[in-house]
Amino acid sequence: MQAVDASFGDFEVRPEIVQALADAGITHPFPIQAMTLPVALQRHDIIGQAKTGTGKTLGFGVPLLNSIVAPGEPGYDELAGPGKPQALVVVPTRELAVQVAGDLATASARRTVRVVQVYGGRAYEPQIEALNHGVDVVVGTPGRMIDMLKQRHLDLSRVRTVVLDEADEMLDLGFLPDVETLLAATPASRHTMLFSATMPGAVVAMARRYMTQPTHIRAADPDDGGQTVKNITQVVYRAHALDKVELLARILQARGRGLTIVFARTKRTAAKVADELVERGFAAGALHGDLGQGAREQALRAFRHGKVDVLVATDVAARGIDVEDVTHVVNYQCPEDEKTYLHRTGRTGRAGAKGTAVTFVDWDDMPRWSLIDKALDLGKPEPVETYSSSPHIYSDLDIPEGVKGRLPKDQQTRAGLAAEAIEDLGETGKRTGKAPAGRSGPGGSGSGSGAAGSRGGRGRGGHAGGGQGGGRRDGARSEGGQHADGAGQERPARAERPAAEGAPGEGQPRRRRRRRGGSSSGGSTAPAQPTA
Ligand SMILES: Nc1ncnc2c1ncn2[C@@H]1O[C@H](COP(=O)(O)OP(=O)(O)OP(=O)(O)O)[C@@H](O)[C@H]1O
Ligand SMILES: [Mg+2]
Repeated sequence: MQAVDASFGDFEVRPEIVQALADAGITHPFPIQAMTLPVALQRHDIIGQAKTGTGKTLGFGVPLLNSIVAPGEPGYDELAGPGKPQALVVVPTRELAVQVAGDLATASARRTVRVVQVYGGRAYEPQIEALNHGVDVVVGTPGRMIDMLKQRHLDLSRVRTVVLDEADEMLDLGFLPDVETLLAATPASRHTMLFSATMPGAVVAMARRYMTQPTHIRAADPDDGGQTVKNITQVVYRAHALDKVELLARILQARGRGLTIVFARTKRTAAKVADELVERGFAAGALHGDLGQGAREQALRAFRHGKVDVLVATDVAARGIDVEDVTHVVNYQCPEDEKTYLHRTGRTGRAGAKGTAVTFVDWDDMPRWSLIDKALDLGKPEPVETYSSSPHIYSDLDIPEGVKGRLPKDQQTRAGLAAEAIEDLGETGKRTGKAPAGRSGPGGSGSGSGAAGSRGGRGRGGHAGGGQGGGRRDGARSEGGQHADGAGQERPARAERPAAEGAPGEGQPRRRRRRRGGSSSGGSTAPAQPTA
């Protein structure tokens, strides 16, 4: 990622923002930021598109924060509704809400801006308290936001700026009705910004409905014309279901491997692969929609802190998640489509770093793979048949000779998932009490503060609240997530997201959101479970 010559100070941005970014080591805007800033600062609507890991968050974050008038700043007392949200950021997953709120908090660290997170799976009370206490920016997922809206804790009538991050996902069937409800509750005069790495033409056309003469800004790198990120080495193998764990375990011993995200299509497979890796001596954790929110956040925190170096996740972690030093992404199961491929593999090779993406394609997934290959022009229509014993994996991926599918004891140096404290979130919609996979490491009773560490620590605005004192009201409001799959049935993990966010208001079952159906690769029925 080549930063541009200009610095943030060259734009008409509040000096406290420029200073706060500099405190975080961010001085020169990335191209998407330099391109969108002048337009967004004029409050023109924007559809911003740039590859994964190229800085879209600050692309909308800086102009958004610039327009906020925070307590104590000139004009605050003259606001029509001081303490009511002035900006709304809607994202598809809870973990992304935490992260984006943290980034906004970082950029506003030298101001009094209150950033509040509103997302499902946690107790309502701390969020309600934060909203009632006065807030400037709300970041969250649609389901919980709608609940808060209906219960009148969230008043969007004073919102001046709305952002849909991962906009193509937010405007897809699963989320669209809720997003429309949220938009309808904001003033028509709002400033609207849509951002994503993937913006199919049909979505752009449709998005115009919610915007006023938007400018479509695409940041393209002149020497990176493809759709994938040039810095990411793309490796594709046709692998056999029964050999995949062994193959993965060897790949995980490649030289220079840092943090790694392994993507599975189903929750069950994600859980199972994490368990198997732990048995083989790896420090792995799982992140998927069958886990309680406390366990989800524990796993991601443990990964950010390096206590586990392998995160086995469903597509819940495919979009937006930014973790430093992710060197490898492995698609244990072929992604559903080319967009998912781009988002998953884009968890590595961020902000100019290098990365390696390895995709396993089952025989059954060959038609799906060939569509992805064609759509992205990868030039790998016939992935080479590969076994854990195939010599080419060692040379392709720089795996030391003699490596087998178990991490030797002397290399088992990570603390493990259990070393990361699990926060009591007063969870709603917890499905099982089953602990996620994780090597038991030392401790297990950390400080109890989930806020240590880069993202968490930066999330100063995280009023969403730890579980302290937040009453458990799961009885009154059972979250959609717990019904997301009946009796152990598996569906594509993509389907979990909208449902998982849904929390019925006061005891009425929330309408089931429409599942994304009809994709040519057939998403609506249970996929074959080749490896489960
Ligand atoms: N101007 C900058 N200078 C240095 N680092 C930056 C700059 N802008 C963003 N970054 C860093 O780059 C990384 C990627 O940014 P970000 O998460 O916003 O990417 P993104 O474009 O939203 O990617 P995705 O499509 O995956 O959501 C982050 O760690 C962020 O802190
Ligand atoms: Mg992003």
